[in-house]
Amino acid sequence: MSEQMHRILLASRPEGAPSLENFRHDSCPMPDPGTDEVLVKAEYMSLDPYMRGRMSPSESYVPPIEVGAPMQGGAVGEVLRSNHADFAPGDKVYGMFGWASHGCLPGSELQKLAPALQPSSLALGALGMPGFTGWHGLHAYGRPKAGETLVVGAATGPVGSMVGQLAKAAGLRVVGVAGGAEKCALAVESFGFDACLDHRAYAQVDALKAALSEVCPKGIDIYFENLGGKLLEAVLPLMNPMGRIPLCGMIAWYDGSPVSGLSAPDLWRAMLVKQLSVTGFIIANHFDQYPAFLEEVGPMLASGKIRFLEDVAEGLENAPAAFLSMLKGGNTGKQLVKLT
Ligand SMILES: NC(=O)c1ccc[n+]([C@@H]2O[C@H](COP(=O)([O-])OP(=O)(O)OC[C@H]3O[C@@H](n4cnc5c(N)ncnc54)[C@H](OP(=O)(O)O)[C@@H]3O)[C@@H](O)[C@H]2O)c1
Repeated sequence: MSEQMHRILLASRPEGAPSLENFRHDSCPMPDPGTDEVLVKAEYMSLDPYMRGRMSPSESYVPPIEVGAPMQGGAVGEVLRSNHADFAPGDKVYGMFGWASHGCLPGSELQKLAPALQPSSLALGALGMPGFTGWHGLHAYGRPKAGETLVVGAATGPVGSMVGQLAKAAGLRVVGVAGGAEKCALAVESFGFDACLDHRAYAQVDALKAALSEVCPKGIDIYFENLGGKLLEAVLPLMNPMGRIPLCGMIAWYDGSPVSGLSAPDLWRAMLVKQLSVTGFIIANHFDQYPAFLEEVGPMLASGKIRFLEDVAEGLENAPAAFLSMLKGGNTGKQLVKLT
């Protein structure tokens, strides 16, 4: 039998929360790179919350994945064969190979990994898209100033932990919100947050709001929005006038069911009365600033000033379970899959 490439396909669209039945393993003959194409053996692939959106049929900033097509996503790997002048066997590269053991892409769609990106998994996490998202969202739309207070949810994930640590380095009071006592301890002890609240311990918005107001005695100047849901509802009344909300994600609502009582008039009223700046952003449109990010954060990571955690599942076949677990907070740190 010819050499095979393995992939995970979208078997069906989820209704509500996705399940293992929505995925299917598939193998096909190894692709032969054509003109200007490069064949890559994947080493690590990234699992990200945005992939949940692409499983649904609704149009977003990227088209939905077709049922029967491979799951999409970023990965790093080693070049096996190259028909492109810029790449040679052995080169370490990043590309959108999807959930697959190999990728075959035009050289123009690949990036060689910069020397700072060692181990290569960093290109998918701390020094890749999620870390860059935290850096860009905080600086461009949060506009942090020393002495201010910032709140961020999914605080121990790759975006939230980057945001919190950069804000601490800029002299802010930083309060995280995370799922479970262990993650909260991690946010304070490893990532240096001033406080972290366990959102699971506060079933009611009012209780979460009261706890937040205790750890944010001067109110909230920046709310880095990763979640939506209950946290958004608790944060809004505590926002200071002229506060900023970088709108990065709303994972609490990705399954389609609203989990908060926040109405559109409540939201607009808070934004108007407090004169809030809310800026949605899609990081794929800002990669011209990636070199500046790498230059600033690369040395901070190398020196230990910024810390970073990875949660690595082994084997392509375990990608669906790791993805479902990550959506429910089962990950501690950046969720990766090591292709074995
Ligand atoms: N705008 C952009 O271009 C862009 C780019 C990258 C990421 N994002 C967004 O940034 C956010 C963080 O991404 P990430 O990669 O760093 O994810 P992540 O933290 O690795 O994983 C998602 C985390 O969200 C939390 N979560 C899930 N459901 C929740 C719920 N109902 N209520 C509260 N928390 C919940 C869980 O953490 P806990 O266990 O701590 O609750 C889970 O671990 C996501 O919303 C993502 O879509 C946006």
